[in-house]
Amino acid sequence: MYNRIARLWRQKEPKGQRGADLEKLLAKIDRNRMPRHIAIIMDGNGRWAKNHGLPRFFGHKAGVESLRDIVKTCSEFNIKILTVYAFSTENWKRPQEEVNVLMDLLVEYLYKEIDELCQKGVKVNPIGKLEDLPPDVIEALDMAVERSRLNKDLVLNLALNYGGRTEIVEAVRTIALKVNNGSVSIDQIDDNTISQYLYTSGQPDPDLLIRPSGDFRISNFLLWQLAYTEFWHTTVLWPDFRRIHLISAIVEYQSRERRFGGL
Ligand code: FPP
Repeated sequence: MYNRIARLWRQKEPKGQRGADLEKLLAKIDRNRMPRHIAIIMDGNGRWAKNHGLPRFFGHKAGVESLRDIVKTCSEFNIKILTVYAFSTENWKRPQEEVNVLMDLLVEYLYKEIDELCQKGVKVNPIGKLEDLPPDVIEALDMAVERSRLNKDLVLNLALNYGGRTEIVEAVRTIALKVNNGSVSIDQIDDNTISQYLYTSGQPDPDLLIRPSGDFRISNFLLWQLAYTEFWHTTVLWPDFRRIHLISAIVEYQSRERRFGGL
């Protein structure tokens, strides 16, 4: 069984027809109009595992391989920010065993990948209610943040214990405190004020949101930031998601006309 799993994980550069399709897509991409910020809801790990007759754990482990490939591709294509939904405020409702698996995979990912992430100029930036994460996860995140803090090429926002509503509630509370102590007046509050107190403060909103696995939900992800984001959807499950899918999404994004509510 382990050989089969290893083979499944090792789906690297596509060959044959898929390789030719990738070449065609690459020819279409306009390097001058790349999205600055891409957000991804990494969904479908459980279904992938089920389809292969494996326990859910293997779906999450295979999902880490997809994340590696996508970070590498974003870095090659000079994407400035990648935000991935790794663990939501609702994911605590999963069986404790699965929560532990996800936390362990995250810790393993950070320690294993940090050197390569730094070589690629990736700055690790966890976002969410981080203080409620287990101590070993906080320690691994602190290490990755510290080691990568001067990197400037790609910001990797890891959304962990992240909920869009919680994020907005926390921002509103902070602003209310400032109104209370007189440092902000009510008439000064506008869109920028809210953005400034979100976890993504200072970053441009996502240009492109990718949701694999066939569902059409936002799932409490970046509720404020996605107001004018282009949405790209695929039935491909996250563990099967590779650079060819990311590039398809970017090519389609580049064909869209963004009007931001104007004409
Ligand atoms: C959703 O799939 C995925 C998650 C809840 C976790 C995403 C985590 C990873 C890709 C791996 C670990 C992350 C890092 C950053 C190392 P699902 O389990 O809901 O799939 P299903 O809907 O098919 O059941």
